[in-house]
Amino acid sequence: MDRKTMSVPILAARDLTKTYGKGPDRFDALKGVSLEVQRGESVAIVGKSGSGKSTLMHLLALLDTPGTGQIHVDGTEANDLSTRRLNALRNSLFGFVFQQFFLNPASSVLENVALPLKIAGVGPRERRRRALEVLEQLQLADKAKNKAANLSGGQKQRVVIARALVNNPQVLFADEPTGNLDTATGRIVEDILFDLNRKDGITLITVTHDHELAQRFERRIFIRDGLLINTDEEHAA
Ligand SMILES: Nc1ncnc2c1ncn2[C@@H]1O[C@H](COP(=O)(O)OP(=O)(O)OP(=O)(O)O)[C@@H](O)[C@H]1O
Ligand SMILES: [Mg+2]
Repeated sequence: MDRKTMSVPILAARDLTKTYGKGPDRFDALKGVSLEVQRGESVAIVGKSGSGKSTLMHLLALLDTPGTGQIHVDGTEANDLSTRRLNALRNSLFGFVFQQFFLNPASSVLENVALPLKIAGVGPRERRRRALEVLEQLQLADKAKNKAANLSGGQKQRVVIARALVNNPQVLFADEPTGNLDTATGRIVEDILFDLNRKDGITLITVTHDHELAQRFERRIFIRDGLLINTDEEHAA
């Protein structure tokens, strides 16, 4: 066995199902999905609109619970954890670049980025220090005092990435991180994500329906109608 096979995956999902609604409104969004992600990998989750990509991502990120099935994070079964420990685990290991997690437009860029640290109970001086550090890393330090509302789309997305990084996460989850950006700006944001993966070893899990972007990842997971499909059927996705 090589080193990768022997190490405990950072994420392992087994037979995940997720059903939304009840009775006639019932919809099986995931129908039994199993996968493993190794530490330091970059993985794209690819599929058509409505195929279950975001649902899967939310389960993997411990933001929602599956109907049935298990998720192990670094060998720990998430289901066995109390809500408090689950929140702490999510907060310490994961970062999120999701369009639903809006910036607070009325708060400063610095306050937006520091928010996860505030939630984690970090004191104001350390919050400020760490937030400025990641803003520096994303070349946004000069915007620290700006209201988040007064930024360009690409800058906002970089602030979202800064906020995702402020806790030093091991896994970065991104859902269509370049979906709202023009090609050139999208490319800059993509490069930042891949740099974090290659240089800092952050595990990158990204949902996209952009096949070109998907090709930049080490591995692709294809989903169709709530089921993973073989990579050979790639073109059918
Ligand atoms: N809260 C909900 N209640 C009912 N159905 C839902 C809910 N959330 C998602 N669904 C349905 O589950 C299916 C999968 O949704 P999901 O958001 O995972 O798709 P997706 O692959 O991320 O699509 P997109 O590329 O459009 O973001 C869709 O058919 C969607 O309508
Ligand atoms: Mg989605």
